[in-house]
Amino acid sequence: MGRVSNSDYSQLHQADDSVAERSMAEFLRQVELFSDLSDEELARVAAIAQERIYKKGNHIFFEGDPGGAMFIVKDGAVRIYRLSAGGREKTLAMVSRGDCFGEMSLLDAFPRSAGAQALEDARLIMISREHFLDIMASIPKIALKVIRVLTARLREADQQIEYLSFGDARSRIVSTLLDLLRKHSRPGPYGYTIDLKLTHQELANLSGVTRETASRILAELESDGLIQIHEKNIIIIDEKSLRSLLSF
Ligand code: CMP
Repeated sequence: MGRVSNSDYSQLHQADDSVAERSMAEFLRQVELFSDLSDEELARVAAIAQERIYKKGNHIFFEGDPGGAMFIVKDGAVRIYRLSAGGREKTLAMVSRGDCFGEMSLLDAFPRSAGAQALEDARLIMISREHFLDIMASIPKIALKVIRVLTARLREADQQIEYLSFGDARSRIVSTLLDLLRKHSRPGPYGYTIDLKLTHQELANLSGVTRETASRILAELESDGLIQIHEKNIIIIDEKSLRSLLSF
């Protein structure tokens, strides 16, 4: 085999870099935040984005940390949660492929509003605060998309307030299942499968009920034929009947 000179090495690295940037741009094109960008604008975003891998259970950041970067999920799923003073957890949302998180503290310069933890092994795209603010200012289409993401989140938070204020335990669980169905599901032979492997404790934390209550209600929904649970994956068999159980 021939010897490789230093300049060959640097050319090889440059070639690797440009392949990596192209594949990054291809992924970013599928992300709602960047879906309207031109090839040239996408290439600018790809050049400042870095990939990071987190193992299941690893924390990406904690509530109260300073906000140094925002993230986009490439693979896997992340749980966004808050801790009460007494140490109880409330999961605010699950984010999966294509979703972004960690942008709020970059925009308002306050500490992280919530913690983020890998729910399963996750591959994330990270953009530093400085770069994110810079591309938002120079590509206004991104700023408009960010406003849309924040508006959608406010609507979802309003809905959570409604079911936490007025819904009984079963409505809370059903509302969570319908929300997961809308955001994280894929069609299968018997119904839509929620694409996250969730423990009963995680569903309870999302719904604002105890683990025991979550387990009891899930068992009832399963025995009534509305859902099926297979290796921690929930399959929604009868969405219409589930919806009719909402009591608020
Ligand atoms: P930031 O405050 O930087 O860090 C925590 C992140 O969690 C926050 O940005 C948002 O991206 C995300 N987040 C906060 N509240 C919610 C919510 N109710 N639903 C979904 N994501 C949220």
